[in-house]
Amino acid sequence: MQHTTQVELIKRVFELFDRKSTSMGDNIYRNPISDYTCMDQARLEQQQFFRETPLVMCLSSRMPNPGDYVTDELSGVPVLVTRNAEGKVRAFLNVCRHRGAPVAQGCGSGKKMFVCPYHAWTYDLEGRLRSRGPADAFPDVSADNGSLVPLPATEKHGIIWVKTSPGPDIDADDLLQGLGPELASYKLETSSHYQTSNLHKPMNWKLVIDTFLETWHIGTLHRNTVASIFQPNINVFDAFGLNGRFILPRRSILELRDKPESEWDLLKHSAIIYLIFPNTLIVWQGDHVETWRSFPEDLSPDKCIAEAALYSPEPPTTEKARKYWDKNMELLLATVEHEDFPVCIDMQRGFRSNAQSFITFGRNEPGLTHYHHGMRSRLGLKEAPAIPG
Ligand code: FES
Ligand SMILES: [Fe+2]
Repeated sequence: MQHTTQVELIKRVFELFDRKSTSMGDNIYRNPISDYTCMDQARLEQQQFFRETPLVMCLSSRMPNPGDYVTDELSGVPVLVTRNAEGKVRAFLNVCRHRGAPVAQGCGSGKKMFVCPYHAWTYDLEGRLRSRGPADAFPDVSADNGSLVPLPATEKHGIIWVKTSPGPDIDADDLLQGLGPELASYKLETSSHYQTSNLHKPMNWKLVIDTFLETWHIGTLHRNTVASIFQPNINVFDAFGLNGRFILPRRSILELRDKPESEWDLLKHSAIIYLIFPNTLIVWQGDHVETWRSFPEDLSPDKCIAEAALYSPEPPTTEKARKYWDKNMELLLATVEHEDFPVCIDMQRGFRSNAQSFITFGRNEPGLTHYHHGMRSRLGLKEAPAIPG
């Protein structure tokens, strides 16, 4: 992030601190309960977001070298992502053209060929069919009509996107809607993938994102974990198209008041959450990056899979370094899995109780309003009328 932007954001933090306020939207926002419970909306989301919208797959450093690959079916669609001999990212439906088995499992490195475990049809890193068993058994099958089905994929600023249905190329700048230069400054491609965990939870997939889009709850829900680290109640939110950026100042940020602006360092004194629409968060944590991706599970509005990943600035080479990153991963899960998600699961039950037909986002929760407003307009859904703030 450019230093001038950091200074500008720090000034906004100080100004909010002095006013005992936070970023405010114009109005409160009434979000229909059906957003979290409606099967029709879940089907619409599946099509619009999880098939038709390019999704962040991972950071580039999860698969840095030629021959690295990652498989993923969290969207409900089996996908294989490879890095070819020239270092370019490719993506395919992970579906063998013989009878449909997945040709790769998990993730790995040093691959030149993917051999289907069923009858050994073989594909290269470009998805091209290289071997199909006895030629006389499949006389009309060739690489031209029997290669893996390619998917649009792109890589920029250390982030890899894939769309899970075939189509035209992806334009990353178009997706980032102005966030590109800032994300580029983190040099995410130089990070090192440390660990990924998948959490299966009985709650709507959007609640995973929601829980990061306001920090008002830090002083209450997280009073025993991260409340000692962050300034509760102050956050600075800015929209970038459907995306957003959210500054969570650390308590230590107030030390900067006594220092010249040239020494102000926002990255050291805050966590910065980037919402990459529709289902991804990239979180700058001061000395490392975490990502969250959320998906509906089994097409259900009541079940989700949340994927949490931690990327360290460099590969840990000592036991001490490994312990440090293990501790960070533990803190991440202790707060989100053991504090946020239990409340979200209870909320999901509350949604099903018919207590109310909408929930209310306050003016002090502009990230939530922005996210849900953007989502509903993308889905072509009506909104509840605004209430003047
Ligand atoms: S299903 Fe892949 S080789 Fe038969
Ligand atoms: Fe939280």
